[in-house]
Amino acid sequence: MIDVFTAPSPLTPALTERWGSEESWTLKAALEAGAYTGLRKAESMQPSEITEFVKSSGIRGRGGAGFPTGMKWSFLPPDDGQPRYLVVNADESEPGTCKDIPLIMADPHLLIEGIAIASKAINCKHAFVYLRGEVVHVYRRLLEAVAEATESGLLGDLRITAHAGAGAYICGEETALLDSLEGRRGHPRLKPPFPAVAGLYQRPTVVNNVETIADVALVFRHHDGWYPTMGTEKSKGCGLFSVSGHVKNPGQFEAPFGVTMRELLEYAGGVRDGHRLKFFTPGGSSTPLFTEEDLDVPLDYEAVAAAGSMLGTRALMVFDETTSVVRTILKWTEFYQHESCGKCTPCREGTYWLKQVMLRLEAGKGRQGDIDLLDEIANNIFGRSFCALGDAAATPIKSAIKHFRDEFEAGLTTPAWELFPYEKSTNF
Ligand code: NAI
Ligand code: SF4
Repeated sequence: MIDVFTAPSPLTPALTERWGSEESWTLKAALEAGAYTGLRKAESMQPSEITEFVKSSGIRGRGGAGFPTGMKWSFLPPDDGQPRYLVVNADESEPGTCKDIPLIMADPHLLIEGIAIASKAINCKHAFVYLRGEVVHVYRRLLEAVAEATESGLLGDLRITAHAGAGAYICGEETALLDSLEGRRGHPRLKPPFPAVAGLYQRPTVVNNVETIADVALVFRHHDGWYPTMGTEKSKGCGLFSVSGHVKNPGQFEAPFGVTMRELLEYAGGVRDGHRLKFFTPGGSSTPLFTEEDLDVPLDYEAVAAAGSMLGTRALMVFDETTSVVRTILKWTEFYQHESCGKCTPCREGTYWLKQVMLRLEAGKGRQGDIDLLDEIANNIFGRSFCALGDAAATPIKSAIKHFRDEFEAGLTTPAWELFPYEKSTNF
């Protein structure tokens, strides 16, 4: 895992401002740096004013979908005096995505302050953080920070429960997450109703990503109008861009939306010496591939979509010319097949068959018609699955065939390990 914010950012460190400072995760250090001043500001406001303030800031969901945060909060039905919940999605599992975990490790009080503000906006008395189960050290840090904030009285009557999941990718899907939190097997629910109407224990619930909630704390700590001064017209503010793979200095780079991959590559020291870029993912393994031609696409929700991909979680995985596209896509396909929850047929069966065909192509034993077969299976998964995981499994295959069809054709006769020997490659 990438440690902390390591590379010099010429941009706008806000979320990462305290990463690397001494004992940044303790309440004492956080208070000295101005933590909970945003909460004090929110406490002087009515819940509807808090929501309006978040709307005017332009914060959008940072878990991948980019849904406007203030609008999501305002979808909750009028308060009937019964419980309403805030659930923070910290089940970060998209391949290449590694922003929420370092954020919690370095500055848990930024998240906790955001939770307290969001809870006040929706009148929630019990908030949850659902954390991926593998990161026990992060879970411990979060538990300690929640205990410190609670015991100090900063949170008033708000209770925060940190819950560690059991390592299933599908539990990052918001409704599967809610099922899991309720103690059941994590299976996506039919939407609508959206969680805003019937979420945790069938009560109105806001589900927001870690970075989104940390952004909420930031906008309340700063002066009015600060956040929208950064970014682009529709993608306001700044965010964490995770650059990994064949670069000299992988890491988290905080930048305004609209930064380009060419700029981020520069901050990451460029592609490793003696090699050149082959392709990269703008938003993790679920998004269509980008190539050198896309280096100057502004990384904001609209421009990336216009260029044919998705900004997603801003997980920029970089691959150089030693990479076998077939092998890379096979690894992702194996991941999706393993993580498919099995609830719907197109994804459960389709990911299995995608994997079988990809294994043949990797071994140089592809059959005539296999590329069309891959395309047909992917088309039968995409748009026909119950949740976004099915689309995610189909997307990289379709995109890779479009950009690198010759490598798939080579898989009819030649093993990927002959074309791209392991010793010369550092494929992940
Ligand atoms: P979505 O677009 O269906 O929904 C986004 C959010 O808006 C949800 O919270 C949903 O409840 C809410 N929403 C949408 N329409 C609504 C309405 N009419 N009323 C009330 N609420 C409404 O996207 P989804 O399926 O939640 O997330 C997909 C994204 O997740 C992808 O873009 C992908 O990048 C990302 N992802 C992130 C991962 C990670 O590790 N962070 C892992 C896998 C995927
Ligand atoms: Fe489960 Fe896959 Fe269907 Fe989603 S698309 S419900 S993960 S089987």
